[in-house]
Amino acid sequence: MNDITILAIESSCDDTSAAIIRNGIVLSNVIAGQKVHEEYGGVVPELASRSHQENIVPVINMALKNANVSKNEISAVGFTRGPGLLGSLLVGTSFAKGFALSLDIPLIEVNHLQAHLLASFLEEEGETINKPKFPFLCLLVSGGHTQIIIVRDYLEMEIIGQTIDDAAGEAFDKSAKVMGLPYPGGPHIDREAAKGNPLAFHFNKPQIQNLDFSFSGLKTSFLYLLRDKTLLNKNFVQENISDLCASLQRTIVEILLEKLEKAAKQTGINQIVIGGGVSANSGLRNGIVEAGIKNGWDTYLPKLKYTTDNAAMIGITSYFKFQKNQFSDQSVSPLARFKNL
Ligand code: KG4
Ligand code: ZN
Repeated sequence: MNDITILAIESSCDDTSAAIIRNGIVLSNVIAGQKVHEEYGGVVPELASRSHQENIVPVINMALKNANVSKNEISAVGFTRGPGLLGSLLVGTSFAKGFALSLDIPLIEVNHLQAHLLASFLEEEGETINKPKFPFLCLLVSGGHTQIIIVRDYLEMEIIGQTIDDAAGEAFDKSAKVMGLPYPGGPHIDREAAKGNPLAFHFNKPQIQNLDFSFSGLKTSFLYLLRDKTLLNKNFVQENISDLCASLQRTIVEILLEKLEKAAKQTGINQIVIGGGVSANSGLRNGIVEAGIKNGWDTYLPKLKYTTDNAAMIGITSYFKFQKNQFSDQSVSPLARFKNL
């Protein structure tokens, strides 16, 4: 069998990433983050697009070099078509199209969300990981999405629950912002939470009947607590930061796990996977493992480096699409919204 060597490119938001995947194994995965957004408290689309343009060539060269692979060995180019910021997606898409055209190799478009939920299949040379069995349930939690998905095969999936307002990552980031923590706030809250009491404060949890989520009420409840307490003590946030983070994180994790348990009961599926940036959260990772022991689930946590945006996950998805001859032509354009999985 000939080797299938994929160059994968991810540029949907504020990370420029390139990876080389050979026969489903990660040979390299290079990520250039963008510090420039920190001072604005969120991603500035125009600045993100400009940084991608600066980063993309060096990042791809480094991915090739780290993998010890030359351009002529590449079988296909995979890229994120969406969802994401249009100006950011355009950089990766245009580069992928040009690269495929110049080498006369196939082009493979990838849905960023589909890639997040296949991150648990990523393995490196000399390693054999325990992979989820189909069908499995994936809790996909990122800065833009919160969904429960039934995954029947690598490329066959169905969303059975999702947020009706903010994503879990937004709940972390917006709450962090009101506490004065830098963007993105999720990792800062995670770190502070480790030192705090998760039962110190209590916030309202949403009452939603089906498998959908809501986080806007929690955000408001958090904001009101800070406002009321700060009126009495202007140093309230600084003095209670760890307890605030621990209590907020506990509440977000509880909201996520309650719905996941409900979905597992409803579907009878006990293979449980998580993916997306928020799946880096230590409270969520511990919570999933504990819920797995309690409910008899087999749980699969992606490696930390594959939770947030990365091109390796785009590469593994491209590899599965390559095997099914799912290629795109040169007329493909990015999609800021990508409804179907
Ligand atoms: O998947 P991702 O890198 O980008 C999107 O596709 O949105 O997710 C980014 C999100 C941000 O909201 C960030 O705060 C959150 O993931 N995040 C975390 C942690 N690491 C990243 N949230 C909580 N705890 C973490 N350790
Ligand atoms: Zn993402």
